[in-house]
Amino acid sequence: MNNISRRSFLEFLGVSSTAIFANPYISAKNLTPLFISKLKAIPPSELDELALTDGLSYEVLIKWKESFSKKTKFGFNNDYIAFVPLDKKNPNDGLLWVNHEYVDPRFVSQFMGDDVSLKTKKQVEKEMYNVGGSILRVNKVDGKWQVVKNDPFNRRITGKTEIPFNWSEPIMGKKSAMGTLANCSGGITPWGTILTCEENYDMFYGERNYKTGERILSSYDMGWYLQYDNPPEHYGWVVEVDPKTGKAQKHVALGRCAHECATIKELEDGRLVVYSGDDSVNQFLYKFISSKPGSLSEGTLYVANTMMGKWISLNYDEQPVLQKLFKDQTDVLIRLRKAAKYLGATPLDRPEDIEINPANGDVLVALTNNSTVGNYLGSIMKVAEKDGQHDALEFKAENFLAGGEETNFACPDNLAFDPKGNLWITSDISGSQMNREDKPFYLPYKNNSLFVVPKDGEHAGKPIRVANAPTHAEFTGPFFSPDGKTLFLSVQHPGEYSYSMNELSSHWPDGGTKIPKPAVVAIYGVDEIV
Ligand code: FEO
Ligand code: CA
Ligand code: CA
Repeated sequence: MNNISRRSFLEFLGVSSTAIFANPYISAKNLTPLFISKLKAIPPSELDELALTDGLSYEVLIKWKESFSKKTKFGFNNDYIAFVPLDKKNPNDGLLWVNHEYVDPRFVSQFMGDDVSLKTKKQVEKEMYNVGGSILRVNKVDGKWQVVKNDPFNRRITGKTEIPFNWSEPIMGKKSAMGTLANCSGGITPWGTILTCEENYDMFYGERNYKTGERILSSYDMGWYLQYDNPPEHYGWVVEVDPKTGKAQKHVALGRCAHECATIKELEDGRLVVYSGDDSVNQFLYKFISSKPGSLSEGTLYVANTMMGKWISLNYDEQPVLQKLFKDQTDVLIRLRKAAKYLGATPLDRPEDIEINPANGDVLVALTNNSTVGNYLGSIMKVAEKDGQHDALEFKAENFLAGGEETNFACPDNLAFDPKGNLWITSDISGSQMNREDKPFYLPYKNNSLFVVPKDGEHAGKPIRVANAPTHAEFTGPFFSPDGKTLFLSVQHPGEYSYSMNELSSHWPDGGTKIPKPAVVAIYGVDEIV
């Protein structure tokens, strides 16, 4: 089968002779299917452009600040994307959910300094508007996706939207929180709602020092607590949003940490398993197993000991060590990192996105990097649950793909499987580290990129670089349309490490001397190249 992928070859065998001659990728001369050579790697690049391999093209679907109904504007630093069809029979019409993770105050609120005490309430409110998520009606017209402006489904969830906790007890005396923020990656439920994950929440309201009760500030402090005295405990949750109504809730049972994503597997009996990584150096991998079908509030949260291959229960009633150190289950869930550490969880190299391989049930976890243990290039870990059962309490963890010269990628972050079972990977080399002579580990990889790892064919199992991001940007939120023809992709934080507003490192997507803008793009041709 040398140069022909199994799938391509079967497709080739399946078509009639007239179809063969009508196919532009098949030469009438020798009947060799030429499309198998369409998957070409592109070289790394330092250019300020979104570059694509042959056969792919893109269009900006929506960018920061763009109005999509009278009172809604698209937020900043878009990340996770999910497409929910309105009618399962029509893959070309639906709702797009897009996360807005954080803001660059220079662009969003025109706050330029470091002293956040000088930031006005108006500036804080501008920033609050620009995080959370957007819900957009999108449809495909004449082969191109477009946002349906002023559609009744269009709405924003922001840093000020009141969101209740799904929990029997109040959190810091309240049954709801002001807004959602730090919305990084996420997941989609079997019933078509969105899970949006609050990752680096401490940027906005800090974190609690549980010995003194004081607020500890992040090194990237936005200072919102100076205008709104919201408790840090109201953030760091997995938030469920119904894209049809905008109704949201914070799921306390899934615990509180820098949740990167929440990836759901529905078991045969309707119970749910939710995997989530805490994206911080030497933090942990979690999974929640519901005790009732369809419940994200009743069940047990576990943390992974990857050395022993065991899921450890974080249930207060089952763990005497937790009973000594914590008040109750709510306290355990709020101070999740501490509880997990006491129970012997294995520190990991920044667990980010998680996807389940549809072909074999393997759970893939992107481990971006961890300079504290000398792992600069990251890897993807494979978790094989015992007997392939996602509610098993034992598993085997092993390396799946390691960043480096052999695989040609560094710092894996988001993962996505296309409908054919190929794996797509985005990289996240920090803009502070890329393309710098004093950071030699990252030099060969240049700007961040998008890779595909083909399931079959001559490149099977090998990451192939198919897109390069503009300067200082990161590709995030890869999500395929139901027919697999379009890849929706976020271009986050272009120009983030610009030296000043007069010396911008990126002008993407508008070009010229324009300021850079995070945007969602639709990439076409993804089903043709692999
Ligand atoms: Fe927001 Fe871990 O990336
Ligand atoms: Ca991420
Ligand atoms: Ca990231």
